[in-house]
Amino acid sequence: MSDLRAAVREATQQLAAAGVGSPEHDAVVLAAHALRVEPSEVRRLMVLGGDVPATYAGLVAERASRVPLQHLTGRAWFRGLELEVGPGVFVPRPETEVVAGWAIEATLSTLESGVTSPVVVDLCTGSGAIALAVKAEVPQAQVHAVEVSDLAVAWALRNRDRLGLDVEIVHGDAVTAFEELADVDVVVSNPPYIPTTAEPVDPEVRDHDPEVALYGGSEDGLAIPRLVAARAAGLLHRRGVLVMEHADSQGESLPAALRATGSWSHVEDRLDLTGRPRATVAVRA
Ligand SMILES: C[S@@+](CC[C@H](N)C(=O)[O-])C[C@H]1O[C@@H](n2cnc3c(N)ncnc32)[C@H](O)[C@@H]1O
Repeated sequence: MSDLRAAVREATQQLAAAGVGSPEHDAVVLAAHALRVEPSEVRRLMVLGGDVPATYAGLVAERASRVPLQHLTGRAWFRGLELEVGPGVFVPRPETEVVAGWAIEATLSTLESGVTSPVVVDLCTGSGAIALAVKAEVPQAQVHAVEVSDLAVAWALRNRDRLGLDVEIVHGDAVTAFEELADVDVVVSNPPYIPTTAEPVDPEVRDHDPEVALYGGSEDGLAIPRLVAARAAGLLHRRGVLVMEHADSQGESLPAALRATGSWSHVEDRLDLTGRPRATVAVRA
């Protein structure tokens, strides 16, 4: 097919029939990827006339089989950072951009209160998304991140080096990480939190995100988040802030779990941009 506009239209229909949530967007992004241009250029070529790249049909077929868009393009955007992602690493989500924003706000407020180089720790960093965004937006911060999966930590290191951001990324268990650190100002975490009894509906998540990134280790999904929060309590100084993402069903259970430990004051839950419970913010008592 030589008509780009017709090809994108056909791809949109194919992706919609396969249950892809944003078929037109994905059809355009895949054309942009195949042509090595920006999506805006694809839209321009669709009006002015353009040829269909040879690889387009194959990419669309893979997306129709529900391979994540980001695995096909090798890229994910996170708060303005272009991250490399692929098999073995959790694809960062738009809702986590808001969670990272709360950690960034907490870090900025330490600067306002006179801390010159706030210490921030990202427990369970995956692609490095949150840690790298914090460093990019608060360059004064000393940022440390830990990831247990060897595949994921390789993506995080690659992203750090490509973006040239000075973040310490270590391969290890968040539950025991950074024994050498104390008096941390902000801990942020998007840990695995899906209940072990639940199965993600979207094939992109179920079949392509690593299991270690998804399941929280118990029926309520909070076994790992609880352990990670306990490590955060050990790292933070008094009045240090924890920002922890959770499932939209955990807006009461995670705050309750944190309150029950006695380690936290001012425990509050926050909603994401869609109005769903998304993260608990707590101050170290
Ligand atoms: C939901 S993903 C979040 C990744 C990244 N922070 C983000 O928001 O895109 C959870 C990550 O935690 C990692 N993980 C799971 N258990 C861990 C542990 N005990 N210690 C460190 N990382 C862990 C997984 O490999 C995965 O990369």
